[in-house]
Amino acid sequence: MDNVLTDDPFKLLIQSIVDYAIYMLDPEGNVTSWNVGAERIKGFQTEEIVGQHFSKFYTDEDREARVPERVLETARKEGKFQGEGWRVRKDGTRFWASVVVDRINGEDGKLLGFAKITRDMTEQREAQHALLEAERRFRILIQGVTDYAIYMLDPEGRVTNWNAGAERIKGYSPDEIIGQHFSRFYTSDDFDAGVPKRALETARETGRYEAEGWRVRKDGTRFWASVVIDAIKDEDGKIIGFAKITRDQTEKREAQLRLEESREQLFRSQKMEALGQLTGGLAHDFNNLLTAILGAADLALRNVADPEKLKRMLDGIRNSAQRGAGLTKQLLAFARAQQLEIRQIDLKDFMGDVTTLVRPSLRSDIELVTEISDQLWPVDADAGALELAILNLAFNARDAMKDGGKLRISAENVVLNGQPEGLRGEHVALRVKDTGSGMSPETMERVFEPFFTTKSFGEGTGLGLSQVFGFAKQIGGGVTVDSEIDKGSSFTLYLPASRGATHAESKANGVHALGRVLIVEDDTLVAELAAGMLDELGFETVVAHSAKEALDRLAGGEKPKVIFSDVVMPGGISGIELARKVRDRFPELPILLTTGYSEQIAGTHGFPVLQKPYELESLADALGKMLKRPIVVSQ
Ligand SMILES: Nc1ncnc2c1ncn2[C@@H]1O[C@H](COP(=O)(O)OP(=O)(O)OP(=O)(O)O)[C@@H](O)[C@H]1O
Ligand SMILES: [Mg+2]
Repeated sequence: MDNVLTDDPFKLLIQSIVDYAIYMLDPEGNVTSWNVGAERIKGFQTEEIVGQHFSKFYTDEDREARVPERVLETARKEGKFQGEGWRVRKDGTRFWASVVVDRINGEDGKLLGFAKITRDMTEQREAQHALLEAERRFRILIQGVTDYAIYMLDPEGRVTNWNAGAERIKGYSPDEIIGQHFSRFYTSDDFDAGVPKRALETARETGRYEAEGWRVRKDGTRFWASVVIDAIKDEDGKIIGFAKITRDQTEKREAQLRLEESREQLFRSQKMEALGQLTGGLAHDFNNLLTAILGAADLALRNVADPEKLKRMLDGIRNSAQRGAGLTKQLLAFARAQQLEIRQIDLKDFMGDVTTLVRPSLRSDIELVTEISDQLWPVDADAGALELAILNLAFNARDAMKDGGKLRISAENVVLNGQPEGLRGEHVALRVKDTGSGMSPETMERVFEPFFTTKSFGEGTGLGLSQVFGFAKQIGGGVTVDSEIDKGSSFTLYLPASRGATHAESKANGVHALGRVLIVEDDTLVAELAAGMLDELGFETVVAHSAKEALDRLAGGEKPKVIFSDVVMPGGISGIELARKVRDRFPELPILLTTGYSEQIAGTHGFPVLQKPYELESLADALGKMLKRPIVVSQ
């Protein structure tokens, strides 16, 4: 490179810059020097270009429009030209150039030439174009959406843009609404109640607001809107506005209201039908009974003198009246309005009694099988009503097995988890299964309805299963049916296991055999720890977080085997007071106190105390003493 500039280090530097084309022009615009950057960007070697006019780098159009001359003119007059535009490389390809031309003066101020710096900005320009294009497309997309009103609000809530959907749904054109406050879309009631203000506040604080409600169109009509407002933040997290999307849900809402309305109507008419059936059935059955009673009374009156006949008539009257009483009992059961006397029933003995009751009324062609697990949990129920329910099921089975068959009554423990009928926890499933005629799905749907019967007049009143159903519900259980035509039927009665139950299984079977301990402890962690230890020993546990809660639970029917209570609990009742109250109200219920303060132990008035911290062994010991049975810590 035998160039005039090579001896100056600064010029050497310029020579070697590759990102910028840096070169000089003489006053006429001919190239006088050329650096590596210029070589790289424009493609000409120094020898090729020095001495050529710089207009060579311009496009034909620009040359025709005399752009190069104007560039030099500007630099000459104003000292500098700055601009961007297409330039042409040696190979004819174009690049987007950012150009600076500086006028160079001699010491006397005379024009010596121009320094020209050109940068290839093609890539940046393309990137910027792509960005603009994406933004443009996005705008078109949003603008074109007509199902949603999509628009933006400034931080104060004024509309800053408006799409076609917004125009269609709300009725305003963009120039009518841009700049207006969005609260004008709200009803005056909502406005007065500060709803729009709260909406923005919520979006500002939480980033998002979502709601449904009435909004007002330009013509004053209302529509049911579903609205989302999103806060838009800049990089520093400052809110620069809100994006608002509104959907017109009026039709959807109306359709839903219509559906609800028709459901309501259907329900009303079904209720009327059921009521009609009930009244009809009742009237019919009582009419029969009254006919019998009246007839017998008539005959009795005619035969007052004949004690023999008189007695027969009176017997008839009493029988009919008793049947009437039976009917009312079943009806009351269905209405869940019968007086139940709930007590703990041990099903093993009970089922024995019931089957003895059932057997004589079965024909000899029916085989009766019972399968009762002897580990059965006791249940809480009314003995009379339970007996009646089992009889009702057994008689139905008998009636379904006209040609004989097998009647199986079984009972087993089950732990339910929401199925069937939302039942949860420990239950006894009592199943009555026959090999009879079975039922069609239509019949199966209606079996529990009062007075629903497929039996001929005089054979059934349709109240048997109503009693079973009502009774099961009333004690907090349920009944299910499973049947298929010609395949027999199976009814399952779910009876809740007794809450005060002492389960026969050991803890090894996953069941807590030792009963329930009511833990009273305000510290959740300590309570959990105690529960864990008691579980280990084979107790079931419930936790009350204060003495008051413990007393409430006891009053609500909780029946623990023993209470294990902390002495010191903040606020309200202490463990010692709790122990006194328990002794007064539930004298049979033992209570074990625990405390970490040894000086308090003296003041526990004879109630047993376990010193904190305690270990499994000492806990087992203390509880064993109270329950008068050994409690073993398994290894
Ligand atoms: N085990 C069964 N097998 C087949 N169908 C049954 C069975 N149990 C009940 N049903 C059907 O359900 C109907 C209603 O039974 P429900 O016990 O309520 O009344 P009923 O037996 O007809 O009369 P009631 O029990 O009042 O004398 C019966 O008429 C019968 O159609
Ligand atoms: Mg029946």
